[in-house]
Amino acid sequence: MLAQAMRDEVRSDYTMDQPIERYTAADHAVWRRLFERQAETLQGRACDEFLDGLAGLGVAKEGIPSFDRLSEALTKATGWKIVAVPGLVPDEVFFAHLAARRFPVTWWIRKPEQMDYLQEPDVFHDIYGHVPLLMNPIFGDYMQAYGAGGLKALELGALNYLARLYWYTVEFGLIRTPKGLRIYGSGIVSSKTESVYCLESASPNRLGFDLLRIMRTGYRLDTFQKSYFVIDGFEELFDATRPDFTPYYQTLRGLPQIGSGEVLASDRVIQRGSGEGWDPRPDA
Ligand code: PHE
Ligand code: FE
Repeated sequence: MLAQAMRDEVRSDYTMDQPIERYTAADHAVWRRLFERQAETLQGRACDEFLDGLAGLGVAKEGIPSFDRLSEALTKATGWKIVAVPGLVPDEVFFAHLAARRFPVTWWIRKPEQMDYLQEPDVFHDIYGHVPLLMNPIFGDYMQAYGAGGLKALELGALNYLARLYWYTVEFGLIRTPKGLRIYGSGIVSSKTESVYCLESASPNRLGFDLLRIMRTGYRLDTFQKSYFVIDGFEELFDATRPDFTPYYQTLRGLPQIGSGEVLASDRVIQRGSGEGWDPRPDA
């Protein structure tokens, strides 16, 4: 019944009005707990661009924020806006939104027993993880260009290559700063355990960003990452991804896939992982 009612409200571009009245007190409490936990964990771990973006948004600590309110601040800063969606949307829909500077956000929040691990993105991951960096002009341009590139990759049958770039940058990227390695990937900043693991564990590899290498590298959804790729700045990332990828895709088709934990002789190794004990354990 609820599923039917929800489907009826979804427009053809998969957007819907954020059903604010459906959030329960328990939902808002889950948001608060996640928010408070990450505020502590991310001090000295997340990059300044993320923390500044978060502060600039005034993302509500008190509960799940109104997307319209957030959009106001975001639009003022970089012209981006947030649109509510029921969950994961088809690739072409997702890319078309990004290319138009609209970020699709799943409206619902995880259950209290899913605090530490969730298989699909929820409102906490989508807002807290992704939206702060959309306040940054360069990163905002990168995401829009990614959307346009996604539409093209679909046409060229090259989405698997481009998806890996998203994974190893937007979702799980690290950045080198004068203060040390910091997190910018949204899949990390929205996870307490991975926020600590990605910087402090001896297990994973930390490798210099290399566009074609990343587009050849497989990834796993079910565990922490075995390798993180480190950029030196958002300008570097955007510059490397500016060229037309069409010839890159051609080259990539002739090359074998690289395993998620492999280190190559050609890699710029920042820290080679021990590979020990990389299996995630739930938070204590
Ligand atoms: N330049 C890429 C292309 O031609 C598009 C892109 C830009 C992809 C930025 C990712 C990030 O496909
Ligand atoms: Fe995400």
